[in-house]
Amino acid sequence: MVTYQKANGKGVTVDHTRICVVMVGLPARGKSLIAQKVVRYLAWLSIPAKAFNVGSYRRNDTPNPTADFFDTGNKEGERLRHAAAEAAVADMMKWFDSGEGVIAVLDATNSTKDRRRWVHQRCEANHIETLYVESKCDNEDIIMSNILEVKTTSPDYKGQDPEIAARDFRNRIRNYEKVYQTIDEDEKDLTYVKLINVGRQVVVNQIRDYLQSRVVYYLMNLHIKPRSIWLSRHGESEFNLLGRIGGDADLSARGDLYARELPAVVDRSVGDDRQLTIWTSTLSRTIQTARFLANSPKGYDKLEWKALDELDSGVCDGLTYAEIEAQYPEDFRARDDDKYNYRYRGGESYRDVVIRLEPIIMELERSENIIIVTHQAVLRCIYAYYMNVPQEKSPWMEVPLHTVIKLTPRAYGTLEERFKANIPAVSTFREKGSVAKHQESKESSL
Ligand code: ADP
Ligand code: F6P
Ligand code: PEP
Repeated sequence: MVTYQKANGKGVTVDHTRICVVMVGLPARGKSLIAQKVVRYLAWLSIPAKAFNVGSYRRNDTPNPTADFFDTGNKEGERLRHAAAEAAVADMMKWFDSGEGVIAVLDATNSTKDRRRWVHQRCEANHIETLYVESKCDNEDIIMSNILEVKTTSPDYKGQDPEIAARDFRNRIRNYEKVYQTIDEDEKDLTYVKLINVGRQVVVNQIRDYLQSRVVYYLMNLHIKPRSIWLSRHGESEFNLLGRIGGDADLSARGDLYARELPAVVDRSVGDDRQLTIWTSTLSRTIQTARFLANSPKGYDKLEWKALDELDSGVCDGLTYAEIEAQYPEDFRARDDDKYNYRYRGGESYRDVVIRLEPIIMELERSENIIIVTHQAVLRCIYAYYMNVPQEKSPWMEVPLHTVIKLTPRAYGTLEERFKANIPAVSTFREKGSVAKHQESKESSL
């Protein structure tokens, strides 16, 4: 049984369970990308996670290997690669021993049964569960585009001609193919998931607990089709003008102008004839903001999600920050001290919002082009997931009104673009320690 508990108000720890996610597969099968995404997803959920990339340990001794380094006939190559794996596993164990670690991802090819048995023994001896994640892909187009997208620019090929690098990388893969053993019947006692041709088929074996099942479910939802996510706050509301938080106010006159302008801003940011789906909260101000977009000739579908409603400010709903400070001075200070964890009386904290947004993130991972019209705190949490923003920072990010943020996931990161509507609005941003009434917006950024 796995239980979640808040540790010192700082994070969530998972009692009893420590997992090593062991990546398995030939080079250019998305292992590093998957490792990084899993770590980002878990960190966003406050589950301490870290990737240990064997290639980067190997680079300490062998920064620019050619394909023959990876030939199993190359004894020195074998020795150095084993030493790199040892160093990565030793650091991983130190991290677990420090009490800091809950889920490690061992990012390497782990392409033979011997290597996997060795990892298993090391983990078992330290009471760490193993979850093997094998990525198999025989689609030559995907493999070639992976090589061109990430391998020719890898530090392994620094300063080299991309065409020569791509050819060498193909030869590296051939060397691995000579010894690669897929996970099979002999390993039926292992906990594993096989992702075949980017999730077209998924084989799941012996999942033992809740945390493992969360990771597996996340992996099952990933795809690599090109797409973007658009984020916008609702247009300026009557409450924004008054500096009041929460509520279910209508748009102000300027907020309504933003709603009318939104289809043009979105058109500008999409740049082609992609079909978008609109997600709003269930509150009037986001529905009003999306109404022209929803009725545009593009015929975008629309969905309302309760999970996208603004952070519930409980007894403070409808108050200004100055009123909150006057009526609940201790709460006001406590929120400034730890904004991520502070839970309004009868309401929510940022931590609570992240937990309720988890199904939204899962659905976003499964989906293609989505535009989300939501609220300041919710947008901060979604943005933090994509841009890997730490918890101490995310609740303090400035998110201007009347601006569309376009996020495009790339191999190892997310590209951000901004499209401003030329319609003034107040700034609802409050600095730590201040009770400032909402101001006319200056140029601001996250
Ligand atoms: P590896 O670590 O296996 O050598 P990388 O993670 O460096 O490979 O490769 C990144 C590329 O793999 C990206 O271009 C990404 O689109 C692609 N990719 C992501 N997931 C998968 C998958 N399940 N199968 C094949 N390719 C994938
Ligand atoms: O002021 C707009 C608003 O969306 C409020 O409804 C909400 O309580 C607040 O922003 C969240 O921002 P913060 O967490 O910075 O108070
Ligand atoms: C590497 O050296 O880049 C690497 C991934 O090593 P291994 O195949 O030994 O895991």
